[in-house]
Amino acid sequence: MKVGILGSGGVAQTLASGFLLHGHEVTLGTRAPAKLAEWAAKHPKAIIDSVAKAAQFGELLVLAVKGTAAADALRAAGAANVAGKPVIDATNPIADAPPTNGVLKFFTDLDESLMERLQREFGGARFVKAFNSVGHPAMVNPQFKGGTPTMFICGNDETAKKIVSGIIVQFGWETADMGKAEAARAIEPLCILWCIPGFLHNDWMHAFKLLTKD
Ligand SMILES: NC(=O)c1ccc[n+]([C@@H]2O[C@H](COP(=O)([O-])OP(=O)(O)OC[C@H]3O[C@@H](n4cnc5c(N)ncnc54)[C@H](OP(=O)(O)O)[C@@H]3O)[C@@H](O)[C@H]2O)c1
Repeated sequence: MKVGILGSGGVAQTLASGFLLHGHEVTLGTRAPAKLAEWAAKHPKAIIDSVAKAAQFGELLVLAVKGTAAADALRAAGAANVAGKPVIDATNPIADAPPTNGVLKFFTDLDESLMERLQREFGGARFVKAFNSVGHPAMVNPQFKGGTPTMFICGNDETAKKIVSGIIVQFGWETADMGKAEAARAIEPLCILWCIPGFLHNDWMHAFKLLTKD
């Protein structure tokens, strides 16, 4: 697929590397392409461009920017460039405040997630929450002693979720579909839980697994 990644940080770089590894075409979009010079030198097949150009390029988009900047990044991408496209939303609504005893602060509450806000403003986009509750070093084909980890996803568009599930499986995960966009109220806070062992014990290498009877 042609994948447009909005972002330049660890998540954007890791997922871009994963897409390239699995044979997809990638454009990364940033306000400051120079930031990606070192990464680009190691990944000559990737294109580095503006956020709008990356959004225009992708038939599948990835939103991988700071949560407080998510809406601004999508505005920079342009509503027309995101309309109709599946958008993997890896963002978390982390507030600009330090954690308390390892517990992050969010700027949303449990009655409204960041993804619902984005879905409301960019009604044409087909958001799928994914990749938000694991650190980026474990996003692509991770090896855990406990087996295949579970990626919790949600979103209003079934076709978009199928496309994103295919990518998740390609990246070595199993998918647990939690339903419509409102489920992001539960999936986004998994990031808070995931980060606690990191802040308390510097343990950042773990992932969630949903155990079922069958
Ligand atoms: N780090 C992880 O392991 C991890 C894991 C799961 C989920 N997440 C979530 O994934 C997202 C990306 O995380 P990250 O750690 O890779 O990067 P980050 O440091 O949270 O964010 C960097 C990105 O945010 C963009 N940005 C910052 N301020 C902006 C503004 N005012 N307007 C437009 N864009 C702005 C930057 O754009 P420019 O390139 O234009 O400067 C850059 O691409 C976050 O929402 C985070 O919560 C992170």
